[in-house]
Amino acid sequence: MMEFLRNTWYVAMWSQDLKAGELVGRTYLNEPVVMFRDPDGRVNAMEDVCPHRLAPLSMGKLVCEGKHIRCAYHGLEFDGSGQCVVNPHASGRIPKNSSVRSYPVVEKHSLIWIWMGDEQPDASKIPDFSLLEGDLPVSKRDWMKMEANYQFIVDNLLDLSHTAFLHEGILGSKETIKADLKMEEVGDKVIVNRVMRNVPPPSFHDILFMRDGKSVDYWSNIHWSPPGCLINDTGITRPGAPKEEGTGIFGTHFLTPETDTSTWYHFAGVRQNPIVWGEPIDSENMKQIAELRRYAFEVQDKGIIEGQQRNVDYRGGKTKFMPLETDLGTIRVWKIMEARIAAERSRAAQSAS
Ligand code: FES
Ligand SMILES: [Fe+2]
Repeated sequence: MMEFLRNTWYVAMWSQDLKAGELVGRTYLNEPVVMFRDPDGRVNAMEDVCPHRLAPLSMGKLVCEGKHIRCAYHGLEFDGSGQCVVNPHASGRIPKNSSVRSYPVVEKHSLIWIWMGDEQPDASKIPDFSLLEGDLPVSKRDWMKMEANYQFIVDNLLDLSHTAFLHEGILGSKETIKADLKMEEVGDKVIVNRVMRNVPPPSFHDILFMRDGKSVDYWSNIHWSPPGCLINDTGITRPGAPKEEGTGIFGTHFLTPETDTSTWYHFAGVRQNPIVWGEPIDSENMKQIAELRRYAFEVQDKGIIEGQQRNVDYRGGKTKFMPLETDLGTIRVWKIMEARIAAERSRAAQSAS
């Protein structure tokens, strides 16, 4: 698989999942990271490695009113910037080179974003997911882990032709195999539009719309931002009617590598045009949406994606694929990622020389 792009923003977790007073240890891009929220509400992230004897700091505890991590092994304390501030032993002298690497973090759009690279971070480059904080109802901010390289999950979302087979009944059917497929690039985004005309409504969408099983036009427009942030603008409308008269979901997906072969997958659905058949959307609706989406990812996508990873391992890490016409977005995204990783490598080589 490709190496990881480092100088970019990755989703670390949902903001709601980092509570004040808790230490959370997670691995991103093969690096162990410990995070905590200090008493001012600020999120701190640092390498999860004590410089003394390399104990995981996430096994320690928060002290000094939640401002310091105390290592569980011999009690050195570190502030949120990673600086060693207390040595409980002997003279109490703070040793040289005792600070821990810290990572820039930003909270935006109800998510914690982390910067794993060495270059200067630019928070304005965080992709726009403000729809997660707007007036539209949002389903459960959920997450899971998949035992596969993150690119397999990005590929899965870029080629939604798989919904006709893997998610048959819920998100597609044999009638939705044929689609008008179009790809466009806007700034650093790749957008793949799939429109299926006059097809039976997939059950997931029918419960959001008229609930009558009558034919619809069905769209799935996936918007990718590097390296693994996607919005699937998907929904149904009466045949020939504009999108605005239909309804659907903005499915948000955030893929962050844990290791070369495992991924943190954060997701939530934002209801679009939420009143169609005359009833307001209630929390029961949103719960049903969250459960169906989780079922599709966890029970249907996960098995295939983890199986792909096992086959790549079996082939010694080689990813030779046989492309189909439906892979146009996937191929474009791989090319963009290869170019960005190559550019990052050459910037690093220049600054080292
Ligand atoms: S390993 Fe952390 S204080 Fe010794
Ligand atoms: Fe899927």
